[in-house]
Amino acid sequence: MFYRTTRSREKSKDLNRSKKMQYHLFNAILGLVAAFLIGRLPFVSTEKLHGASECDSSAVTPITVLVVGATGATGKHVVQQLLEMGHNVRVVVRSRRRMLDMVDFQPSDHFVVTEASILELGDEDLKQEVEGVDAVVSCLGHNMDFNGIFGQPRSLVSLATSKLTETMKATAKAGRPKKFILMNSDGVAHPAGTDDTRPVLERILLGVLRLLIPPVKDNEKAAKVVHEFQSNGTIEWVVIRPTDLIDGQPTEYVLYDKPVGSLFGGGVTTRATVAKCIVDLILDQVLWEKFKFQMPVLHDSKQN
Ligand SMILES: NC(=O)c1ccc[n+]([C@@H]2O[C@H](COP(=O)([O-])OP(=O)(O)OC[C@H]3O[C@@H](n4cnc5c(N)ncnc54)[C@H](OP(=O)(O)O)[C@@H]3O)[C@@H](O)[C@H]2O)c1
Repeated sequence: MFYRTTRSREKSKDLNRSKKMQYHLFNAILGLVAAFLIGRLPFVSTEKLHGASECDSSAVTPITVLVVGATGATGKHVVQQLLEMGHNVRVVVRSRRRMLDMVDFQPSDHFVVTEASILELGDEDLKQEVEGVDAVVSCLGHNMDFNGIFGQPRSLVSLATSKLTETMKATAKAGRPKKFILMNSDGVAHPAGTDDTRPVLERILLGVLRLLIPPVKDNEKAAKVVHEFQSNGTIEWVVIRPTDLIDGQPTEYVLYDKPVGSLFGGGVTTRATVAKCIVDLILDQVLWEKFKFQMPVLHDSKQN
């Protein structure tokens, strides 16, 4: 009897294990496919706009930046780079522990960590986060697993973008406009329709992806929210559209006015380079003036 019970328990354990493995395998494959589709969609080549600038940040007075999506693969670099330069960083993260494991800094007056989900933060709490900042950066993105891609909130990036920009506007004071930077993707077309028209088959493919993969639609909506945002001169924005993301050291980068390359290759950029570009945009006013109210596409200048 004992033997049979143990065997049936073993059998059901095996079944559970196998189901779990299938689930994880499915998640992993789905994550890879979605990352590929969200980060790399087809476009044609365009004019090179900008080579990376060397920004002497040591000479800059400390500024304050709110980063959301700070525990992400790119967001963590933005936080680390700004803190290394002596700037003040505020983050709103779902896990304080995970944030602190990712950077070489502990919470202090210069590094304020709020544990909350950005969409669940009340209006007054969000106002407090935004009040007094010089810039807000969103590196939010859907987690690349089944729940992240198909679960709620499906409009994570666009809703957060709306909330943040409206709160920035509500808390704006006279003086230099605040900067809002949204990390998006070169798979998202410029809402003004200024990107080159894609071939028919690629447009059909995009339409299908928009229907099947909610984060694609969310990133498009977020770009539109920023593009249509009426800030009354109090907020300026840049939507940065990186090409395929990889891990690695920050390198020199190039900013293009439109997506470059084809579906199956055309460029890559390290997440640390994306962070570097975001930090440059915040600190380098000349660079900012050149790209404000635009949606530049970012590639590493030297391909990895
Ligand atoms: N993958 C590519 O090749 C590629 C290429 C170009 C552009 N992009 C775009 O770039 C953006 C950032 O990409 P990434 O790879 O750096 O992002 P990531 O590593 O996936 O990080 C996503 C961030 O969003 C947060 N987040 C996810 N779901 C959330 C929720 N429901 N509520 C609150 N926060 C949530 C995560 O917080 P937790 O740590 O708490 O989960 C994390 O901080 C994305 O929009 C992506 O589409 C990707």
